[in-house]
Amino acid sequence: MKQHTHDTKPLALDYTTDAFKHGRIIHADCFEWLSRLPENSLHAVVTDPPYGVREYDDHELEKRANGKGGIWRLPPSFDGSTRAPLPRFTALDAKDRKRLKLFFAEWSRLIVHALRPGGHALIATNAFIASLLYEAITEGGLEFRGQLIRQVRTLRGGDRPKNAEEEFPDVVSLPRGCYEPWGLFRKPLPAKMTVGECLRQFETGGLRRLPDGNPFEDVIASERTPSVERDIANHPSLKPQSFMRQMVYAALPLGKGVIADPFMGSGSTIAAAEAMGLQAIGAERYLDYYKMAAAAIPELALIGNGQTRRTKAAPKTVEPLKDRKGLDVVAVNPI
Ligand SMILES: C[S@@+](CC[C@H](N)C(=O)[O-])C[C@H]1O[C@@H](n2cnc3c(N)ncnc32)[C@H](O)[C@@H]1O
Repeated sequence: MKQHTHDTKPLALDYTTDAFKHGRIIHADCFEWLSRLPENSLHAVVTDPPYGVREYDDHELEKRANGKGGIWRLPPSFDGSTRAPLPRFTALDAKDRKRLKLFFAEWSRLIVHALRPGGHALIATNAFIASLLYEAITEGGLEFRGQLIRQVRTLRGGDRPKNAEEEFPDVVSLPRGCYEPWGLFRKPLPAKMTVGECLRQFETGGLRRLPDGNPFEDVIASERTPSVERDIANHPSLKPQSFMRQMVYAALPLGKGVIADPFMGSGSTIAAAEAMGLQAIGAERYLDYYKMAAAAIPELALIGNGQTRRTKAAPKTVEPLKDRKGLDVVAVNPI
């Protein structure tokens, strides 16, 4: 695939960094990193933030590692398989919500600084936090452009009222969660600039059409992260390659530029960009997750192209396809 001239190396500043064929990662706190980046450095942001803000604090991670719970709860094991702990968003009190709002408003201001005009930010969230998150992000200066719905069966909701299951057998206290919302934001275009002019000047402003030429759509059939990927990166919030590859593909309207994931975790965004031949840079604050990403990205990037180094077969839902320009794209079977 054609190499683009946008270089990620200068964006690493003086942080510890590892480079891959198209992408790069840095060990950094993204608030500090974003504030130090020159203005208009990034073309797009694709990220999955710490929703509850608290769940990636040292003491909460320690509780998770020790199986003590804290903000992380163990979901019910209804089929005998061991599941990874989930963060307990309902444990957020008014103070946490205020903290979350300040956190994301400040983060959004930094994104506005680092992103090119017209650059998009695709931000994973959940049904409980979405409205608060969108308010904070908008307050920080990004413009709300709607939501992407990742169709996926979660373990949330669907239960009968607790301790009254037999009395109310036909009731659910919360619907079974079947989607994950992603906020879609854009840095405002300069006054009176059209999308066409923005594409010409900044290579941003729109989203990329699907590889077959059809419009990118806001409801996307997806899947839970396959075990072959979770075996590669044991991060509690690992996103599936089949979905992330569609996100990074859409994020760069002209298929060129640099995508950033400021809350990289184990690097599923960077691996997806790597697999699609797109440039990306990820930042992770915790050294253990940074090291996990450094090891996992090359392996996750190979998922679905028949070259995985692992012995397990690639998931059936990820099938390499060629688009009109010969790029590898991913077909996802509806759940
Ligand atoms: C929800 S996880 C992202 C996981 C990612 N989707 C993956 O597939 O691995 C959020 C990550 O952001 C990291 N993080 C939290 N605060 C951060 C900060 N200020 N700067 C950089 N990383 C941070 C956490 O350690 C965590 O790994």
